[in-house]
Amino acid sequence: KILILDFGSQFTQLIARRVRELNIYCEIHPFNNFPALDESVKGVILSGSPYSVRQEDALHYDFKTVHGKLPLLGVCYGAQYMAHFGGGEVLPSSTREYGRANLHFIQDGNPLFKDVPSNSQVWMSHGDTIARIADEYEIIASTDSVKVAAYQIKGTQTYGIQFHPEVTHSIDGKQLLQNFLVDICGCQQDWTPDSFVETTVAELKEKLGDDKVVLGLSGGVDSSVAAVLLHQAIGKNLYCIFVDNGLLRKDEFESVLESYKHMGLNVKGVDAKQRFYDALAGLSDPEKKRKAIGRVFIEVFDDEAHLVEDVKWLGQGTIYPDVIESVSVKGPSATIKSHHNVGGLPDFMKLKVVEPLNTLFKDEVRRVGKTLGIDPNILGRHPFPGPGLAIRILGEITPEKVDILQQADAIFINNLRAAGVYDKVWQAGTIYLPVQSVGVMGDERTYENVVCLRAVESLDGMTADWCHLPYDLLAKISNDIINNVKGINRVVYDISSKPPATIEWE
Ligand code: XMP
Repeated sequence: KILILDFGSQFTQLIARRVRELNIYCEIHPFNNFPALDESVKGVILSGSPYSVRQEDALHYDFKTVHGKLPLLGVCYGAQYMAHFGGGEVLPSSTREYGRANLHFIQDGNPLFKDVPSNSQVWMSHGDTIARIADEYEIIASTDSVKVAAYQIKGTQTYGIQFHPEVTHSIDGKQLLQNFLVDICGCQQDWTPDSFVETTVAELKEKLGDDKVVLGLSGGVDSSVAAVLLHQAIGKNLYCIFVDNGLLRKDEFESVLESYKHMGLNVKGVDAKQRFYDALAGLSDPEKKRKAIGRVFIEVFDDEAHLVEDVKWLGQGTIYPDVIESVSVKGPSATIKSHHNVGGLPDFMKLKVVEPLNTLFKDEVRRVGKTLGIDPNILGRHPFPGPGLAIRILGEITPEKVDILQQADAIFINNLRAAGVYDKVWQAGTIYLPVQSVGVMGDERTYENVVCLRAVESLDGMTADWCHLPYDLLAKISNDIINNVKGINRVVYDISSKPPATIEWE
């Protein structure tokens, strides 16, 4: 495997994804908590950083721990760090070093640049630049304005590059990474979804033996893939629980339960609608609604988990971005999480936790799911928030409002599917507004509610833009909803991006 030492750059995860796209396993670790190097580690990459190596509070890592022992590649801050603390000098850049540039010089025959053509376009993004390098360092590539675009510590496998090979604007970035990983580090490109499934199932068998595991299914990608992996390892000893909180999409509970059973999972569907509606009665504050739903879910799940005799483990669909230890910009105290009071924990939270997906990114979970033969309808699903329709009904929740919203939302989603745009949209949903407006139907005046359609494009939900859906499609959806859903006489479309708006309305 490859280890990536994180100095807090926004691009660190992207480096990891590029390495993995080359079918090589890698892990991200914070600069101040780097694991010991054992035989499984074939090389190390130092990431970029929002810090400058010249700052007094620059982030430090003694690169000599790796230098000379294993191949080492510094990117941006990583490169500047090794240059500066290796006897050279880093200064603020005098010229603009953002955006595209071309490598007009590449050292002949340097293994890092194998098959990278001269003039190859690279992407720069830094405010500092390497002004001078020590004698043992040599320049192996330059652009017009950046002389030390890449260097090597002579006679060693330590390299620094000031551009970002992980972004697609660096046209040959992937080739460069491959050169480093395969030719220089000697990695095998054998980390594939199939090999992941094979080794994970074997590890789970070993770890769990004849123990029983409970797992909450949500209908989403992560919990479904986690369940199928566990099922392959321990079969009927995996007890899946799928809770109907009364806040799911129309017919979702029944159809998803059916496909889970079809996949051979030992799954119990629990109708807890009324418990959730009772807890939500009278609540209109979004955070109070979220808390109530979280609390009831825990109660319901705990009741169900108690029915499984002798259960030892709690299975979870946690994925890698949730467990990467983030590099805190404000010092260690900011990263300390608030812990529950252990005495007050429900019993299932005291179980040992097994998380088969905690090394995977979302798109890798999907690929593993495909290898496992999971229904493409489950794998391709839009994200759906845990509190479900409760945060898409502004204000108080009633079963009647849920029913109306489910109907309108189903019309929206089915039309997206029929028009072939569902997969191009990152997330879509319908919001029930606590607003009544006047309309006219036939000869009659109506005074009914408004629903809002929301469809966004996004990569990870952190930022988003509204989708430019075709007018004809919007017209059809609006017509279908107003003509078929009693209680709705007006449909609007949300044209806000995130930021400054958010994807959900509550
Ligand atoms: P926002 O509204 O913050 O949403 O732009 C970003 C992503 O997070 C989802 N979301 C939630 N998911 N519980 C969840 O499990 C929540 O309380 C919650 N709130 C928002 C939202 O659907 C979008 O994908």
